[in-house]
Amino acid sequence: MNTCSFNDLNARVACIIDDLAEQGWSLQTHFIAPTLTLELAEECRKRAAAGLLVQAGVGRSALAVISEGLRGDHIQWLDAGQNAACDQYLAVMDAVRQALNQALYLGLEDFESHFALYPPGAYYKKHLDRFRDDDRRAVSVVFYLNEDWRAEEGGALRLHLADGSCRDVLPHAGSLLVFLSADMPHEVLPATRERLSLTGWLRRRGAAPF
Ligand code: OGA
Ligand code: MN
Repeated sequence: MNTCSFNDLNARVACIIDDLAEQGWSLQTHFIAPTLTLELAEECRKRAAAGLLVQAGVGRSALAVISEGLRGDHIQWLDAGQNAACDQYLAVMDAVRQALNQALYLGLEDFESHFALYPPGAYYKKHLDRFRDDDRRAVSVVFYLNEDWRAEEGGALRLHLADGSCRDVLPHAGSLLVFLSADMPHEVLPATRERLSLTGWLRRRGAAPF
């Protein structure tokens, strides 16, 4: 993997592009300003306290089935214009989308993202970020919001790589994990404390399922 120690957004996005082309995934620590990361974590907690995060199904449609055996997180989708920190995050991800399109010709058209809160003990079993009836999700993007996370608290995102090996990524505040949605089976391991993230997808043009 490339070692990226630059500080500016363009350089980090260049790293993501190289990593995706080479290995299909990229991890960037300290991806955005710590103050913005903190504001996003606060917003997530505020929404959770207000009861706005709901138990996740396995799809976005009204037909989504709550599947406790598969995933135990609570989510709320982001919409533009509700919160300044969220809008800043969406603007950064739009810049990432445009850069990936220019470099890799992915034809990414939009970005959808949700806050996710995993209560202690919750997990998301091994899966691919694609629906059987909808292949628009091309690039998965997970941004973590957990200050002072310790390895013994668990909660890693485990990537199952093509060579049969695994790579565990801890959900440290400020870390951004990006991977090709169609190629990368992954799972979320249970943690001993609450685990917060913004999980999203850069999507290609395509027909929405009915
Ligand atoms: C997902 C997912 C990973 C994470 O929501 O599809 O895999 O680390 N999330 O929260
Ligand atoms: Mn996933």
